Amino acid sequence: MFDDLFEFIQRQYPAEAPVALHRPLLGELEKQYLAECIDSTFVSSVGPDIAEFEQGICELTDHRYAIATVNGTAALQLGLTLSGVDAGSEVIIQPFTFVATANAIRYCGANPVFVDIESRNLGICPQKLRQWLLDNVEVQQGVCVNKTSNRRVVACLCMHTFGHPSRMDELLAVCQEFGVLLLEDGAEALGSRYRGEHVGHHGDWMAISFNGNKIITTGGGGALLSNDESWAQRAKHLGSTAKTPHPWETSHDQLGFNFRLPNINAALGRAQLQRFQAILADKRQLARQYQQCLQGSGLEFVLEPDACESNYWLNAVLCRDQKQRDHLLQLGGEQQLQLRPAWTLLHRLPMYRDCLRGDLATAEAMAMRLVNLPSSARAGVLDA
Ligand SMILES: Cc1ncc(COP(=O)(O)O)c(C=O)c1O
Repeated sequence: MFDDLFEFIQRQYPAEAPVALHRPLLGELEKQYLAECIDSTFVSSVGPDIAEFEQGICELTDHRYAIATVNGTAALQLGLTLSGVDAGSEVIIQPFTFVATANAIRYCGANPVFVDIESRNLGICPQKLRQWLLDNVEVQQGVCVNKTSNRRVVACLCMHTFGHPSRMDELLAVCQEFGVLLLEDGAEALGSRYRGEHVGHHGDWMAISFNGNKIITTGGGGALLSNDESWAQRAKHLGSTAKTPHPWETSHDQLGFNFRLPNINAALGRAQLQRFQAILADKRQLARQYQQCLQGSGLEFVLEPDACESNYWLNAVLCRDQKQRDHLLQLGGEQQLQLRPAWTLLHRLPMYRDCLRGDLATAEAMAMRLVNLPSSARAGVLDA
């Protein structure tokens, strides 16, 4: 029934069994940079690769500042802390996301509030966001307050699902109407463009992830992106144990985090950045080929949204219903293909079951029907 699809996938990854959902592409360049880093002995929290890696991310994303962190979750927590998210506050997110989006909010002592996604881009829906705010908040002297919980609604942390940009112009307009910050969880979206511009320029900041399953990797790692100099300095300071600069004293002026990306991870990242355009081009080609292969299959390929260029981090199809989804997952597993259903919706997890939420009908429907397909860049990219 899905024979053409399975055969197509196997042809893309002839050396892999089982075929992974997403694996990193690592070659001689990565080995060389890591060996040089080891020889230098700068393998830990200081070293020249960090600044070079941060500069490379800035060039790739057109941001003025990048602060490399130990992982994407830490980048989110650091950004949220600097945005004033604390124990008395709420942050609006979609329930259709990896758990880290909500965890980072909880690490700040704050409360996630769930608003529905739209089917077109699987990102938070601007209309539903506006409706939830209209129904639930009042703006008191410029501060957005939830009428039921009496807590401050500080931000909407949108997420670019599988690399597909959310509707940023509309989200920003809604957030501005209610005095709520717009922030971006772009963990999956390095290289994705919205109306010609790299994502991450609508929100106050954007977090990205360099986990091993992302489009490029530093082993573990992440970054915060910003265009605001003083904000970036504060982020660097708070993420580096808030150590005060001094020639010999070790002193700290506030409770900081040790969230710095080690130099050895940055060295790996520098090699990966050199391959980035080749990887991105290959992933976009793979998405076009999936689209062609799926024509007439009864499975609906999730396309990049209008006026956007997605990095197609993870390709996805929508099945007719849950029964067809389970059938696809079952048969794919038998063929040694790592297919994956959507994340369990966050409001169904025990730690987020009691969170406030709007109507989540689209997220529920999409979660029942969606399957992610193997999406690694193909091995030939290493020869480019
Ligand atoms: C949407 C989203 N947010 C946050 C993260 C967290 O990133 P990390 O695993 O680097 O902590 C990930 C991925 O891992 C993610 O997919």
